[in-house]
Order: sequence, then structure tokens, then C-alpha cells
Amino acid sequence: MHWDHIIENGILVNSKEEIQSNIYIKNGKIAAIGKDLEGTADEITDANGCFILPGLMDVHVHSRDPGATHKEDFFHSTQAAAAGGLTTIFEMPNTTPPINNVENFNKQVENLESKAHVDFGIWGICLGKLNISDIQSLNKAGVIGFKFFWGYAVHSETFQLIYNYKSDMKEVIPPFDDGEVYEMFQEVAKTGRLLAVHAENHELIQHLTAKVEESGRKDYDALLQGRPNLAEETTIQTAISFAKSANTRLHILHVSTGEGVELIQKAKKEGYPITAETCPHYLFLSNEDYDQIGPTMKIYPPVKYKKDQERLWEGISQKVIDIVCSDHAPHTKDEKSGDLWSIPAGMCGVETLAPLMIDAVNKGKITLHELVLLLSENPAKIFGLYPEKGSLQVGTDADITIVDLNKKHVIKEELLHSKSKITGFDGFQLEGAPVATILKGKTIMKDGKIVSEPTGRLVRPDRNGSMD
Ligand code: DOR
Ligand code: ZN
Repeated sequence: MHWDHIIENGILVNSKEEIQSNIYIKNGKIAAIGKDLEGTADEITDANGCFILPGLMDVHVHSRDPGATHKEDFFHSTQAAAAGGLTTIFEMPNTTPPINNVENFNKQVENLESKAHVDFGIWGICLGKLNISDIQSLNKAGVIGFKFFWGYAVHSETFQLIYNYKSDMKEVIPPFDDGEVYEMFQEVAKTGRLLAVHAENHELIQHLTAKVEESGRKDYDALLQGRPNLAEETTIQTAISFAKSANTRLHILHVSTGEGVELIQKAKKEGYPITAETCPHYLFLSNEDYDQIGPTMKIYPPVKYKKDQERLWEGISQKVIDIVCSDHAPHTKDEKSGDLWSIPAGMCGVETLAPLMIDAVNKGKITLHELVLLLSENPAKIFGLYPEKGSLQVGTDADITIVDLNKKHVIKEELLHSKSKITGFDGFQLEGAPVATILKGKTIMKDGKIVSEPTGRLVRPDRNGSMD
């Protein structure tokens, strides 16, 4: 037998077990798993001493392409993804134009495919009555799920998010009211797809932020007074109530508070189909880090307190949190320097997601099996891509992340592959790293270097993963 690629001497890991075995790849698929099968191969990867994981994924990436490609673009964000050990990412729909109808979805597929170093899904956006009649057709076209930026005002022409909204702003569509939001829940429920919500209560935030801004304070705790835990708690509570009533599959994005974890845990215990994600910045940073990191750390929802960080880790081990993802949201250095009240929210994350979570394995925060669950198996299952993605089964896409748990390295901002290199994790010393990324049998990253042209393809839910 002649194979395209053999990965040998590694230890295969899924969410339950570890097996010492080789992987034999043919035509982009895992053709066999076993030891010492006969044959030759075009490529042989010696994974001695390493763990072989199903390709890791990031379900929450803003590559800003098209619309704000001075900050980031898909070529760079997917190189960053591959460098960070990822094989699939889901692209957020707050582009210009936004992914609000089938025409824009189709254009986006074409735009992204030429630049994609990894496979990708595309989120559809919910813009209230502006596109409620497009939801069903977007679903049929193949969006991975629907995103609702609850609490955000958007620019009336570009639909870009307004990060520091004031009600007297011109050319702005203000945040939607609850009636319109509830209708979106009902409409998305009909698709059977997830409705993913950014959960922050804009009325509370606007009121409290205006007050604290007036006082002249510009410190991080002032930001948190303007966007308190309560802002997330009340919106998650409303989201759960709406989802229960409308039968919507609810996904809570970037949970940042202990209160959020409690509410999701309760809803899950009651048996509702609700899922949740958090991000490394909520797991590894807290308000205490602001003095050291500075304005880069401003992200929405903001990084909260140590007690929230602890509850989020607990939420992971209790399986209340299903996914860890990056919320990769780059802005330029210039845009990010300045007054905490006026700069945009967001920082890079796609390249550091897996390294940080691998380090968490070495620190005993999670097991290697939990890593596979949080970054591969759960995302693939929740979004309808399993087992094509998220598994190491014969017959599925040969998407693989090879991890060396002993490799020590330091995150260096200037070495990130993103266009705007900003991270709150600069200087973090980590133990363990992805040392190779393999997409459909082809090595795309080796020892941190990108070694392939873009070959990523769109993935659509429930259609056996990757589509050509
Ligand atoms: O900090 C953030 N940045 N939070 C969001 O919800 C959006 C994102 C962005 O697109 O910049
Ligand atoms: Zn986001």
C-alpha cells in the first residue's frame, strides 16, 4: 500500500482514552489506524514523544475581512491559527458588508476560500427586523450558526460595531429592544441552529458608564463599574428565558462571570439545550493584571475578577462550559493606545488559544482529554461537524494537531502571525506547544512555521464536515 502520509510513534488522544498507534492517511482522510501496517508513504511524520490530537478548533474569530483589513485579514488570521495548532476556525459575521443575507454569505465564501490556511465555518448575523426574513435562507446556504451582538449599537451604513456608544450618536442603529430580540429567538429556533449571544445589558452599561465617566476616572476598575458582572448576569438570564419560551438552541458566548456560570449550570440541570464558551483571557487574566498589561486588555465583555476566573475553571471541570475559544479581535496598536473610554475592545487570541490551554494541562488545570473536548470534540459536535471534524476515526478528515507537552516557549507579541500584533499574553512562559498542524493530511505548520499555501475550505454543519 502507498499512503500519502504516515504519522508514527505518537500517542493518540480522544476525550476518553490514549492509544499508542500510527495514523495512515490517504486522499485527505484517515485511512487506517494501527501499528506497523505495510507500505510506503510520500510523507512520514515521526511523532515520538508527542500526543496526536484531533485537529483543534476556534469557534470565535473576527478576521475583519472584508471591511477592516487594516486591522487583520483572513490570510493572516488563518496563518496565525495554523501556527497555533488549529485546523478549523469559525469566522464572525461583523464584517463590512456583514453576513446578513445569502448574497453576502456567498461572496464571503469566495473571499475567504482563496486566503484560508485552515478550514472555516461562517457565522450569520442577526440584525433584528433588518434581516429577520433572511434567517431561513442563510441557514440553507450553510452558516455555522447565528450570532447576535446583544447590547451593541452598529453603524447604519457599515454595520461595524460601536464600541463606546452614546445615545446621541449619529448614523447609528441603536441596540434592539427585547421585543425584537425575542422575535429573533423565535426565527432562529425554526432553523434548529444555535443562536449565539453576546450577553451584556446595554441599558445598564450605558447608565453606569455615563456616571463613572463623568467622575473623570479612567482606571480599569472604573470600566468594570460601568460594565459590571450584573450586565452579563441579567442578559444571560433573559436569554435563557427567551430560549426556553421560543425553543431556541442557545449558545452563550465568552462567559466572563461566575454569575453567568451559575445560571448556565442551572439551565443545563433543568435539561435545556444550552451551551457555553469562555476564552483564555477570562481564564488566565483578571482585573489585577491591568496595571501590567494596559489598554490592550480592554475587551468586551471585560475581564473580571479572580473569583470569576476561579468559577470559570470550575465551570470547565463541571462541564458547564463546553468550549474554550479565542474571540480573536485585533485592532491596530494606534487604535488601542489611548483613553480607556474611547479605544475599541478586543485583542489577538487565535494563535495563543491552544498553547495556553496546553500549558493548563501541564499545570493540572485540565486533562489532555478535557483539552480535546473543549477545543475539538465539543465544538465539532455542537456545530454539526462531528465526526468529520473533532475525531480521529477512520474515514474522517485527517485534521490533526501534534502536541509536545515538554516544549517550553515564551509568547512574544512581535512574533504573532496576525496583521496587528496585540496580545495580553506577551511574555507568558508556557510549557507544552503544538509542534505540527495537519489539515486533511497535509502538514500546514511545522515547529511554528507555516509550510503550506492556503488550502482551507468552507465547512457547513450536518453535511459531513468539509465541502468542496
Ligand atoms: O472585545 C470585543 N471585540 N468584543 C466583541 O464582542 C466584539 C469584538 C470585535 O469585533 O472587535
Ligand atoms: Zn467576539
